Amino acid sequence: MFVAELIRETREMTESWRKQGYSIGFVPTMGYLHEGHISLIKKARQENDRVVVSVFVNPTQFGPNEDFDKYPRNFERDREICEKAGVDLLFAPSVHEMYPAKNLVFVNISELGDGLCGAKRPGHFQGVCTVVTKLFNIVLPDKAYFGEKDAQQLAIIRRMTKDLNFNIQIVPCPTVRDQDGLALSSRNAYLSEVERKAALVIPRSLQAARQAILSGERDAAQIIQLIREMITAEPLAAIDYIEVVDGETLKPVSRIDGPVLVAVAVFIGKTRLIDNFWYKEGSACS
Ligand code: PAJ
Repeated sequence: MFVAELIRETREMTESWRKQGYSIGFVPTMGYLHEGHISLIKKARQENDRVVVSVFVNPTQFGPNEDFDKYPRNFERDREICEKAGVDLLFAPSVHEMYPAKNLVFVNISELGDGLCGAKRPGHFQGVCTVVTKLFNIVLPDKAYFGEKDAQQLAIIRRMTKDLNFNIQIVPCPTVRDQDGLALSSRNAYLSEVERKAALVIPRSLQAARQAILSGERDAAQIIQLIREMITAEPLAAIDYIEVVDGETLKPVSRIDGPVLVAVAVFIGKTRLIDNFWYKEGSACS
């Protein structure tokens, strides 16, 4: 596996692969890799001749009062995981390499970025779209892999790719969970043992909501209320949002008629966790 800190090295390597006719799969990450990231890498490994992973904690997607400084980092471990998973090129640039000067040009998304996490984290998706555009332009992959755990991010990246004509296929990957149901996240590392247990209220409440929809409940307010009651009963949990939104527009719906995304953001102590499930045509998956 080749480790590159420079954009120039990364471009040279991917360009030589393209010249040799190799297909390139790309998995952008912020590191502190877990089985969720590994599932994306494995899928990329299966579907491409060469696999590139980036590890970059992107400052522009963190708000001023968010956790950029204390976001978990362990590059040596990430490097070993990538090596084991058969990654060909690990791109790990410094902040200076990615943002050598004050950025004056940003990529923005309207509507899709307005609700859910976009409403709670102003500027977050501008930072995500900008860095993903930069990474796409550096790596020029054929396919790029994104997790459904970050459902709004996935929808936005898909739309950005379409609207800005990136010649890249966006591949969605299902949420990987711990055995007890908690969605894997680098931020789970912040949780104390007691908080880790309390966090199970998130998958449990979503599971209950899914059951209610499968049993015929179509009133979004009832679904939200069911989730709210369960989460409120957990003293360590504080709701950031609970939403039932249209699967296409990500706008809140009052009745569940077509495909919907049921999404939550919940603080467990100081740690903000997100989770969701999709409901479409008589089947719910997450
Ligand atoms: P990060 O949180 O490191 O996630 C990298 C990728 O892994 C994302 O596509 C995310 O959806 C996916 N992922 C995280 N947890 C997962 C899980 N439990 N199951 C399946 N996939 C999971 O998302 C980002 O980084 C950044 O915003 C990034 C796109 C890299 C831009 O900076």
